[in-house]
Amino acid sequence: MTTSPVLVTGGTGTLGRLVVPLLRASGRQVRVLSRRARPDGGGVEYLTGDLLKGEGMGPAVDGAETVLNLAGGPKGDDVATGHLVRAASRAGVRHLVHISVVGADSVPLGFLRTQLAAERAVAAGTVPWTVLRAAQFHDFVLNLVRTLTKLPVLPAPGGMRLQPVDARDVAARLVDLALAAPAGRVPDLVGPTVYGVAELSRSYLRATGSRRPVLPVRIPGRAGRAYRAGANLSLDGATVGKRTWEEFLAERLAQRR
Ligand SMILES: NC(=O)c1ccc[n+]([C@@H]2O[C@H](COP(=O)([O-])OP(=O)(O)OC[C@H]3O[C@@H](n4cnc5c(N)ncnc54)[C@H](OP(=O)(O)O)[C@@H]3O)[C@@H](O)[C@H]2O)c1
Repeated sequence: MTTSPVLVTGGTGTLGRLVVPLLRASGRQVRVLSRRARPDGGGVEYLTGDLLKGEGMGPAVDGAETVLNLAGGPKGDDVATGHLVRAASRAGVRHLVHISVVGADSVPLGFLRTQLAAERAVAAGTVPWTVLRAAQFHDFVLNLVRTLTKLPVLPAPGGMRLQPVDARDVAARLVDLALAAPAGRVPDLVGPTVYGVAELSRSYLRATGSRRPVLPVRIPGRAGRAYRAGANLSLDGATVGKRTWEEFLAERLAQRR
């Protein structure tokens, strides 16, 4: 068993917070990079740094054989990933595992182009790598439907579908990948069911005992056409997570009671 720590960028985020205890349970020391200082504890060392600014990279990667790049923000993930790839290369990291998003190369949205550029930065580096694209997490969808259902009328984007996946299933897959040999781009990870966005909102309204009039809307432009064509979905050959949206929603609503 190696004693080298596994570096987890984004170890404080929705996904990373689930990955860290799984790595600990597999017996690995874990190092987390965060923009904010935090106390170490439970076999987890916290280092301060900023991937976007390229700050704190050297100490973060020093001595780590495996790096999971689970950090992400609204902008600049390509630049941030480039900084990490170069630092990991200089430090002799042996395996870089990177999370990306399903549809990164097929939906013309700025955020997804950045995700594709980040994947390319990983592939162009010298560190052996694994890239997993995941569909939208249940947590993301819950935030989305909570926002939509706060409006007096419920916008229903025609033809827009999602395959939400549970972040716990993504975390488990990432840990398996991190503990195995570098595998390049692996099959996408999606949830068990494809839903229309309006269907997801309606299930939330039903579960919370609320009602809203529905307003059909059309997403304009090339991105709208890509969504209506299902370019954001991964229907063939994807790995399918176990937990359903309905189970996740019931759990979350029970926690609020
Ligand atoms: N959410 C989804 O539905 C979804 C679906 C597929 C793929 N993904 C990908 O999965 C990754 C994680 O998503 P998430 O939902 O867990 O994100 P999240 O909850 O928003 O967490 C973001 C994480 O990134 C870190 N971070 C952000 N900017 C940073 C910077 N400049 N330097 C260092 N760390 C930085 C944050 O750390 P601090 O705040 O502690 O610095 C935090 O731990 C992202 O790459 C995202 O694109 C997400």
